[in-house]
Amino acid sequence: MLEKIIELTNLYIESMPKKERKKYGQFFTSMETARFMAGLYEKPTEKFCVTVLDAGAGSGILSCAFVEWIEQFDTIKEIELVCYENDENVLGLLRENLEYCKRHSIKKVSYRILTENYITSQFLDFNDMIGGNPNPSKYDYVIGNPPYMKIPKDAPEAAAMPEVCYGAPNMYFLFAAMGLFNLKDDGEMVYIIPRSWTSGAYFKRFRQYFLKESRLEHIHLFVSRDKVFDKENVLQETLIIKVRKTNISPAQVKITSSKSNKDFDGITSLTVPYSLVVSGEDYYVYLVTDEKEVSVLERLQKFSQTLPDIGVKMKTGLTVDFRNRDVLRDEEEDGAIPLFYSQHIKQGMVHFPIQKEHEYVVTDQRGLMQDNKNYLFVKRFTAKEEHRRLQCGIYLAKNYPQYTKISTQNKINFIDGLLEEMSECLVYGLYVLFNSTLYDEYYRILNGSTQVNSTEINSMPVPDMESIQEMGRKLMKTKDLSEKNCNLILEGYCG
Ligand SMILES: C[S@@+](CC[C@H](N)C(=O)[O-])C[C@H]1O[C@@H](n2cnc3c(N)ncnc32)[C@H](O)[C@@H]1O
Repeated sequence: MLEKIIELTNLYIESMPKKERKKYGQFFTSMETARFMAGLYEKPTEKFCVTVLDAGAGSGILSCAFVEWIEQFDTIKEIELVCYENDENVLGLLRENLEYCKRHSIKKVSYRILTENYITSQFLDFNDMIGGNPNPSKYDYVIGNPPYMKIPKDAPEAAAMPEVCYGAPNMYFLFAAMGLFNLKDDGEMVYIIPRSWTSGAYFKRFRQYFLKESRLEHIHLFVSRDKVFDKENVLQETLIIKVRKTNISPAQVKITSSKSNKDFDGITSLTVPYSLVVSGEDYYVYLVTDEKEVSVLERLQKFSQTLPDIGVKMKTGLTVDFRNRDVLRDEEEDGAIPLFYSQHIKQGMVHFPIQKEHEYVVTDQRGLMQDNKNYLFVKRFTAKEEHRRLQCGIYLAKNYPQYTKISTQNKINFIDGLLEEMSECLVYGLYVLFNSTLYDEYYRILNGSTQVNSTEINSMPVPDMESIQEMGRKLMKTKDLSEKNCNLILEGYCG
């Protein structure tokens, strides 16, 4: 059955300009991925009739894959599909495909196509407002490949779901949150979505809603970034999740990975304690792919404090250079202060000046200046192929006694004392942590992008203040800032 639906979808893709489909965030799931997704549900028990929601159904690939999968269970006699789709161009094909599915299935299949906007049409229900449906539609199963589209923060869809939005949201997580809303208690939902929601402040509200109301049971990762959507060149890192609507956490989460969307045979599989995968108030999701990464999490999650808990914090550099061109200087002059860029970080130390353009500023804007104190600078951006995500440099105020203020470009982060200036041994100790292999690996598991965000660094587990200072003293004594030496020192504290 699915072969036929895929064949017709391919004809549609050829006939419909990409520009048209992009307006609706339209990408189609491959046959193998659709089958894999349907196969993630648990075998149904004691059910005669099941209801299934496929929101943003496109040509109906996922609905059809679901019907194919559930046909193998004798107890199931009836399948009721509800498909939301608001792109008029694809509606004819969707109807044709669902009709085909209905005619060829060995079960009794019925379907309804709802052409309204999946998000805004449920605004009153989702927010439990007057005029809403007191019994909103709930389904046994939710399956989906939602539209991928960033929308403005005042778009009607964003306004319809304020609880999960922070800034300009992406349609994919509005669909996921609404999908969960439409799921019956203890029901299962399988979604294919980008991995971006698993960390970052921007997705925190969504994570809080989603992972309070449901529990992850299975996560599937694609190792290759560009193979998930056939013919579509989607370069987002994508994953498949299966969640259950319950507030009881399972003991473990299954994490599988495959090379591409055609290659589900050669998948690797891992079971990981739930508490390691979903952790902290921020509900970060740690996407581990092998036992080595599990051990990285286990070793660091033994520490119960974070940087703010011990009185320091990572912040983002203050000066956006291209918005403040008038204050930038190439040469030192009266009243000029140093502006530090990532290029000033070299082999663990901060070097200045380096005869770089615009490495001074002359300003009286307080927002562009900070006290000349001890800091640990950390690059915000690194290239994919670079050996480390976390690259830091020790900044000691005593090396620049001529300045009372300095500035930092917003492409670096810096760790600063919250109440008092950090001692030298504390700065060296923090360097041991953030220049170690363990912390670099931990950060990569937490965040798949090449950007180093202060919110995430501030949520990473760290040893207590005394131990960090002790590590710093050890580093100062050995005078060896290498990653290897940092690993050796850290080893003694986290087993
Ligand atoms: C990424 S495509 C997935 C299509 C199909 N589910 C599949 O897996 O092949 C998302 C679909 O959602 C539809 N869509 C976008 N915004 C929508 C909305 N607000 N309400 C209903 N459907 C929407 C698009 O037209 C598109 O067909």
